[in-house]
Amino acid sequence: MTITLAVPKEMLPGERRVSIVPEVVAKLVQSGFSISVETGAGSAAYYEDTDYEKAGAKIVGKRKDLLSSAGIVTVVQPPTEADIAMMPPGAVIVGFMAPFKNIQGIKAMRDRGVTAFSLELVPRITRAQGMDALSSQATAGGYKAALISAASSTKFFPMLTTAAGTIRPAKVLILGAGVAGLMAIATAKRLGALVEAYDVRRAAGEQVRSLGAKFLELQINAEGAGGYARELTVEEKKQEEAMVKAAVAQADVVITTANVPGRKAPRLVTGEMVLSMKPGSVIIDLAAESGGNCELTKPDETVVENGVSIIGPSNLPGQIPYHASQMYSKNLQAFLSLLVGKDGKLVEDFGDEILAASLLVHKGEIRNSSSREMVEGKK
Ligand SMILES: NC(=O)c1ccc[n+]([C@@H]2O[C@H](COP(=O)([O-])OP(=O)(O)OC[C@H]3O[C@@H](n4cnc5c(N)ncnc54)[C@H](O)[C@@H]3O)[C@@H](O)[C@H]2O)c1
Repeated sequence: MTITLAVPKEMLPGERRVSIVPEVVAKLVQSGFSISVETGAGSAAYYEDTDYEKAGAKIVGKRKDLLSSAGIVTVVQPPTEADIAMMPPGAVIVGFMAPFKNIQGIKAMRDRGVTAFSLELVPRITRAQGMDALSSQATAGGYKAALISAASSTKFFPMLTTAAGTIRPAKVLILGAGVAGLMAIATAKRLGALVEAYDVRRAAGEQVRSLGAKFLELQINAEGAGGYARELTVEEKKQEEAMVKAAVAQADVVITTANVPGRKAPRLVTGEMVLSMKPGSVIIDLAAESGGNCELTKPDETVVENGVSIIGPSNLPGQIPYHASQMYSKNLQAFLSLLVGKDGKLVEDFGDEILAASLLVHKGEIRNSSSREMVEGKK
């Protein structure tokens, strides 16, 4: 029996991505999957039902019919409780699951007896690079952040020498030089801005410099487990604050991308620092959803304080849906190639390191210990 893979339409407002694009449908059909796609699932990203049909998918009109007959369901956003209730016990869901936040959804998946794999939990090892959806989507987000900042700025990014005089390049400061930050640096550099960046991981310095930007350095190296940043000590936070304060006051544009997995985003830009900026400056806070790197950020709003616009988009990859979906579905395709064997069946145990690490809910149990503690109220 072939596995039926269901692709529902994303329902979160502003979410224009789709988990599987037609190009990947064709590849999955070749590997033996039977694919069902909800009517209009890709239309917000301009992947039409006819494209899916040509690739070999069946279009299903009713969400309930789609989900209740699924062996595997792929999603971008975590499934809602209503969707989970439509899935048969034993079905497998793969996608972003917000494993350190989504208490109700995780409970619902546990109680329904479905199996959930969280792409946020895929380990960042070399073999898993093709499945790293956090990276692919952060790439999309960092790019879009730089473009929005340029479009919102009152200044040109590049230096211009014109008959109407010489224009100095804009100064762009990027706080947090992980995947999104590096893409924002590269994009702002391509637009001709003067770019400075800072990260608590010293290793980021080399990457920042290789993009032609200046790295602001402190005597801190807060590289923690798995290559991620750890939280700073009180003393380190003081040093950081002094340096960020001076850099923010000089910047025309600040793009913040700093995160520490599973924790509230570090507060890097205070309200007082915003007041020190030139009116007309722009802050784009990519950590808006996890609490914000700027004290004044409000998710999905633009706050204007003393002439400084603070923009807090919670879903930038959703604003570049064609390519973000394409990258996301390639990540899923790679993940599915581990999950389903050459015989077209789910692999017996999920013993592979990548599957084991990303297994969030299985057989009525929450398998990730941090998520379990959160759901059981210990966190
Ligand atoms: N396959 C792989 O090997 C692979 C793939 C992607 C990322 N990575 C690594 O994972 C790490 C994190 O990547 P990410 O972009 O997902 O991270 P993230 O989204 O968790 O955080 C973004 C950045 O914020 C930085 N940060 C945290 N606290 C900060 C603070 N107080 N001040 C300034 N910056 C702060 C982090 O160091 C990180 O670079 C990086 O080392 C990256 O190179 C590895």
